[in-house]
This record gives sequence, structure tokens and C-alpha cells, in this order.
Amino acid sequence: MAKRIDGKAIAADVIGKVTAASAALKAEKDVVPGLAVVIVGDDPASHTYVAAKGRRAKECGFHSVQVTLPAETSQAELEQVVRELNDDPTIHGILVQLPLPAHLDEFPVIQLIRPEKDVDGLSIVNAGKLALGDTKTGLISCTPAGAMVLIRSIHGSDLSGLDAVVIGRSNLFGKPMGQLLLQANATVTMAHSRTADLPEICRRADILIAATGRAEMVKADWVKPGATVIDVGITRIPAPERGEGKTRLIGDVDYAAVEKVAGAITPVPGGVGPMTITMLMANTMIAACRDNG
Ligand code: GUN
Repeated sequence: MAKRIDGKAIAADVIGKVTAASAALKAEKDVVPGLAVVIVGDDPASHTYVAAKGRRAKECGFHSVQVTLPAETSQAELEQVVRELNDDPTIHGILVQLPLPAHLDEFPVIQLIRPEKDVDGLSIVNAGKLALGDTKTGLISCTPAGAMVLIRSIHGSDLSGLDAVVIGRSNLFGKPMGQLLLQANATVTMAHSRTADLPEICRRADILIAATGRAEMVKADWVKPGATVIDVGITRIPAPERGEGKTRLIGDVDYAAVEKVAGAITPVPGGVGPMTITMLMANTMIAACRDNG
């Protein structure tokens, strides 16, 4: 039976360190890390995530700002909000919650965020710094950074000689994940929806990372015995067994079957999920220490 990687416990440990660092920064330099989260429209799942980010920021002792804009906000209005946050010295980190409503173009909005405040790591500057190995001045996308912490909990920081397969090539996760694994000396394969014979490629992986958005797609016979399996998927499905109208989350990995083959595996929920918000707090702390306000 695979070891269950406890993302909740690892996240709590990192949050404790961030909270201590935030208190020290206040005591020594009178700087309070400031995080602004911008949300446009009424998507209930996005509102739940954003509220959780705000709560966690406060727990870490941060100055937390939520900017809630109506669904009909124009591109120019949204960009003006970002400009004001860029110029606000009490704000060290800015996150624009995605996806944006369909009439808005997310790319120019994200590129407008000052790279020093881009705690999502999505700007061209931060993506470029990651690709070139500059982790000293850049900021790294939160979910891959969090997945990397979980991988290090099993394998340590040097992945020399290990084959890693990432399924999914998004800017938010797959691409930065591949870069981080490469930097840790893994041999990386980027697989995606057009990859031929995906199960065969996955079976090579010592570290298999699934970010497909397709519930329980990764089956037990896709997994090399003893491999570490990181599940980034979150699909909400009806759970009538929990009562009328109730739902539950499942991942991209068929957990019940794969845990019998893998060496270590992240559950959903309680694996990668708690790490994403945690790394957002860590990035905000890093930005505040660099005193970019
Ligand atoms: N929506 C879902 N995940 C994320 C994330 O990591 N960052 C942003 N900005 N939006 C998201």
C-alpha cells in the first residue's frame, strides 16, 4: 500500500514558518506583508477559493485586501485596478483570480502586474526567470511550487536519475512544473492530450504528476510499482450518499486502485490542494522580504 502524502500536515508546517517570518519582519522592519486578490464576477467556486486565500493571509498576520468587481467590469477598469495595486506600497503581492469572465482578456491583465508583485508567477518575466533558473529574484507559480514541496518530502531535493512525467501543459501548472523538475535534475517528459500511448509513457515514471482535469483518468496499470504519484486534479461530483445535494472532490487519479501499486500518493482532497494557498502565502512573504511595496 502506498504512503499517503499528507499535504494538509506539510502545508500547516509551512504556514507556521511563514507566520513566524511575518511576525519577525514586522518586529524588525515594521513591514506587514500585503496580499491583494482581485476577483471579477460571481463564479461560486472562485469566490470560495478567494475567501480561503483571504482567511489564510490574515492567519499569517498579513494585510489582506479583496477587490471584488462585477461581472460586467471592462478590460480598462480591471487594468486600472491592477495599476493602482501596483502603485500601492502596502501591497506586496497581487493575484487576479482566474478564469476571468469571457469578455475579458487575461493575458494583458497578468502582464500588467509588476513582476515583483506577481505572486502567481504567471508573468512573462517570472516564467522566464524560472526557465532560466533564476529562483533568487523570481516568483514561482504556487501549485507547482507546492507539488515540488510534496515531492521533496519523499525524494529529497535532488531527483538525479529519476524519470518524471507531467500530464498537462498549462501555463498555470504543467509548464512551470516541468521546469522545476528539470532544475531538480529529473529527466522530464511533458505529456498532454495529444500524446500517443499515454499509459505506456506514464509507466516509465518514477514520479507521475497528473494535471489533466479528467476525473480518475490515471489507472493502476499506468503506474510503475513504487512510483510517487502527485494528483493535481479537482473535479466536484455529486455525492448523494452524503445527503441530498451534497458533493465531493475527486482527482485525476483512480486513487483506490493506484494506491495499491504506487510507493507514495497524494489524496484528493488533502494533497496538492492545501499546498497551493500555502505557497501563495510563502510567495507573498518572499515579495515582502524583498520590500517591493
Ligand atoms: N484559478 C485556479 N487556480 C488559480 C491560481 O493558482 N491562480 C489564479 N490566479 N487563479 C486560479
